[in-house]
This record gives sequence, C-alpha cells and structure tokens, in this order.
Amino acid sequence: MKKILFVCLGNICRSPLAEGIFRHLAQEKGIENQLEIDSAGTYSGHAGELPDARTRKNALQHGITLTHRARPFKAADLLHYDLILVMDNQNYRNVVAEAKGNETLIKKVKMIRDYDSVGKGSEVPDPYYGGEQDFELVFQMLYRSCGNLIEEVVRTSE
Ligand code: 4NP
Repeated sequence: MKKILFVCLGNICRSPLAEGIFRHLAQEKGIENQLEIDSAGTYSGHAGELPDARTRKNALQHGITLTHRARPFKAADLLHYDLILVMDNQNYRNVVAEAKGNETLIKKVKMIRDYDSVGKGSEVPDPYYGGEQDFELVFQMLYRSCGNLIEEVVRTSE
C-alpha cells in the first residue's frame, strides 16, 4: 500500500483537485485499491467544506467529481504518508516545519510540479482570487503532474 497526500493552503481548490485527478487516474489503471490517497490544507479555516464551487465545476467539465471534505494538515501526516505533494513554496515551508528537522520525514515532501513535464519544479498558483481560466490552468498543471506521478507509482510497484 502506497500512501500519498496532496497539500495546499485551504484544501478547497488545488489539493482536492490533485487528489481527485490522481484517484481518477489510479482507477483508470486499476490500482486504486493499492493506494491510500487524501488531501489536506495548512490553513484550517475551510475544514469540513466541499471543494470550491469553481474547482468542482472545472473538474466536472473534465469528468471528475470531487467529494473531499477539507481537513487541516497535521504533523502525524508526515509519519503516516509515504509521499506528501505540496503546491507552492509556502506549503513546502509549512509542512517541512512540522518535521522538526527530521531528514527522513523532510524527504517525503515534494513539490507536485517536480513531476510536471512543463515548468518542472514551479509552483501551482493559487486560483482562489482568479477567474475561470486560472482554474483551468491549475487543472492542466495538475493533470500533467499526476499523470507522470502515476506512471512512476506503477513503475516502482512492478
Ligand atoms: P487552495 O486555495 O489553497 O488551493 O485551497 C485557497 C483557498 C482559500 C484560501 C486560500 C487559498 N483562503 O485564504 O481562504
């Protein structure tokens, strides 16, 4: 069982979308039952909420239904998950701070766009104050990144 957690700030736009895309791709590959997939936010103000209506609309346009309920990231997530994928540098700093200098835990934390084939290693910009095209741009970044990530997961589990 490989455990993967996606993290952003509010857990209502970027990370629940990444979770939904990754789960969709895992279902397509028939490996969903070998994976534990979740998402969380470093800011707890939206806890319990469904993803932002604009994110859900965008995902649905691509055939993906999002049902995640926002929850705060916690230090125990660093122990539980094998891989923690963050969206931007601020998320990275906030998650790594919870590792309290433990190098084994810090190594689990990666920028999701390390897996992107365009703009590798860049941030996924927060679309919260943006328009429809910003949500679509985020979708494209996450779809490419999750596509490459699932290929790596398949390769390393063979
Ligand atoms: P997310 O977007 O981190 O992609 O979920 C945000 C959603 C809400 C807020 C910030 C970012 N907020 O400050 O309420």
